[in-house]
Formats: sequence, C-alpha cells, structure tokens
Amino acid sequence: MTTTVPPLLEALAGRRPRRLPVWFMRQAGRSLPEYRAAREGLTMLESCLRPQVAAEITVQPVRRHRVDAAIFFSDIMVPLRLAGVAVEISPGIGPVFEKPVRSADDVRELVAHEPGDPQPVVEAVRLARAELDGVPSGDASWTPLIGFAGAPFTLAAYLVEGKPSRDHLAARALMHADPASWDALLGWCARVSGAFLRAQVEAGAAAVQLFDSWAGSLRRDDYVAHVAPYSKAALDAVSGVPKIHFGTGTGHLLPDVRDAGADAVGVDYRTPLDEANRLLGGATPLQGNVDPAMLAAGWDALSAHARDVVTRGYAAPGHVVNLGHGVPETTDPDVLTRLVELVHALPGSAKSAAEGAA
Ligand code: CP3
Repeated sequence: MTTTVPPLLEALAGRRPRRLPVWFMRQAGRSLPEYRAAREGLTMLESCLRPQVAAEITVQPVRRHRVDAAIFFSDIMVPLRLAGVAVEISPGIGPVFEKPVRSADDVRELVAHEPGDPQPVVEAVRLARAELDGVPSGDASWTPLIGFAGAPFTLAAYLVEGKPSRDHLAARALMHADPASWDALLGWCARVSGAFLRAQVEAGAAAVQLFDSWAGSLRRDDYVAHVAPYSKAALDAVSGVPKIHFGTGTGHLLPDVRDAGADAVGVDYRTPLDEANRLLGGATPLQGNVDPAMLAAGWDALSAHARDVVTRGYAAPGHVVNLGHGVPETTDPDVLTRLVELVHALPGSAKSAAEGAA
C-alpha cells in the first residue's frame, strides 16, 4: 500500500484529486452476468451471509468497470436477519417480514433481539479487502471498500409496513400515535445499523454510507424531531472513516441530512449539484447524481448529462460521481464501463477545466 490517498478519500475530505472518483450505488449485482453466476441457487440473503460469495460479488464491478470504490455486497436487511428477525428478500419485490411491527407489544418483542454475531460480514469484508488492496485507483495502489447500513427510518418503514410501500403511511402514523414505541423502535434500528457499520469498519472498510432511501417522504419537522437523531446515533457508532449520508427526494432536507453527522451528502437525481451545494453553504463534499434513467437514453444523451453533472459538481469542495439512485436491473454493463471512462477523462476541477481550455 502506498501513502498516496485514493481519489475517493481525497474527494470525501473536500479536496479535488486530479481524477474524479466514480462508483455506482447497486453496482454489485443485478445487471452483471458474473453476479448472476456467483449467486446461482442461493437466495439474496444466503449469498450475503456466505463470505466467499459476498466478497467475490463485491469485487466484480471493480474488476469490470474500474470504479474507484467497491461497495460491500450485502443488504440493509442483513443486520436484522443477524439479529434473528424473520425477513426474506423476495425477487422483484424487496424485503418482506413474517410479522410486521405494528403495536407497542410488537415493538417490545422486536427490541428484545440483540444484534447478532457479525462474523460472516467481518470475514467477507476481509476477503474483499485483501483483493482490493492490490487494485489501483488513480495514483493510489489500492481501491477503497465502502461499508454501509440502512438508516433507522428506512429500516423502520419496512418493519412497520412489513413490505415495500410507497408512502410509508403506517410508519409515519406510528411516529405520532405512539412516540414512546417509535423511540424504542428507531433506537433499536440505530443500534443494529451502528453495529453493522462498526463490524465493516473494523474489518477494513475505508468509508461508510448510510442509506435513508425513504427519508424524502417526510416533512422537515418530522425528519428533524423523529428521525435525524437516530440516524446520528447510527453514524456515531463509527469513527475514523469518512461518512456519506444518502437519501432520495431529500432536496428539502439536505442541511439536516448533513447535520446528522455526515462528512459528505449523497444527492439524488432530482436536485442539481450546484443547487445542492448552495443549499449546503458550499462547504460539504457531494456525491451524485447521474439520473439512472439516462443509462438507457443512448450515449449522446447520457454523456451530455454526465458532463453537466460534473460541471455543476465543480461548485462543491469535493465531488464523488455516482448515480442519483441505484443501477437499474436492465442496465447494459458496457454503458457503465464507458461512463467510468468518460468521468475519468474529464477535468477533476473547474481550475483544471479552465487550464485545459486555455
Ligand atoms: O451494489 C450495491 O449497492 C451493494 C449492495 C446493496 C444491495 N442493497 C444489494 C441488493 C446495497 C447497498 C443495498 C441497499 C438497500 N437494500 C437499500 C438502500 C438503497 C436503495 O436502493 O434505496 C434498500 C432500500 C434495500 C432493500 C432491498 N433489497 C430492496 C428494495 C431490494 C430490491 C428488490 C428487487 O429485486 O427489486 C433488495 C434486493 C437487493 N439488494 C438486490 C441487490 C443486488 C437484488 C437482489 C437480486 O438480484 O435478486
């Protein structure tokens, strides 16, 4: 390992490496034929809990696309499964619970579960790290691995609804109908997510991302009072690595998302990065935000859009290029590889863009 810092970590520290770092949410999985081969005959959660399989799938997109980070192949539901909660991930549907958590009694029963043994996670991160330590990124000789967890609200939304839902009405009602149960539920989710993050960092993850996919469905006052403190508790469980905090539809919440304890904010595709930077006061590194729909819009439209994202991102102190949400299942992997090549060929900062043009 050299002392040169990989571009991902430079950008997350608010600096402008020569080359823009790029990785994709949901890069590990679904759109890759080698992923489908590695998972053959295993359910989603089984593959997450087999260290060799999880490590192999984690590294696949780095080998194929030369992205500047691996994201650990796992799921936000894994810590719940490790804690003994009956959850499955149904293909094409998402997480489904045997018993939704609806009443005060349900919450009491749930929070009696201790976070389980993270050994399969620790082992998988170690195996992936061993390979990534030898894969260059920019001028560095190694590629960082990003650990992650689901934010307490997103986990709670699934637990309360029992399955994916659009508006999270049951969860948002429980928040106000029974604040004491809400506090117990979110506090427990923060504890299991925090333990999951800590296990990944202790095994060698160089950064973490907290996914609050459904935070955008909240009013700002509810987010600040009933959600952000628990996200902060989950993020506070780790120290010494940069923390990215991502949600979708959070244009109205960006400063609050940052203030929950993030070093960088993940912006979905709805808010242009120059506007996000303005909302955040120009001091926070950003991650995002190529619209996933553009991956299927043809190269001319995609490349023009990606250049626009990069140009708007120059406003921020640091920028990690990513999508504004996950890779769609139907994405042509070659389009992702070409997008990585394009981003790597673009100037890393407004200054080098101006020098190049001069
Ligand atoms: O590549 C990566 O990003 C790493 C692994 C990862 C997965 N899920 C693997 C996965 C990560 C970081 C997640 C996060 C996750 N999981 C979130 C937050 C991010 C987001 O997308 O909003 C959420 C809400 C979940 C819960 C979950 N798991 C859903 C909604 C689904 C989709 C169901 C479907 O098939 O449409 C899953 C399944 C899942 N998680 C897959 C993968 C690769 C697909 C499994 C398959 O191939 O059958």
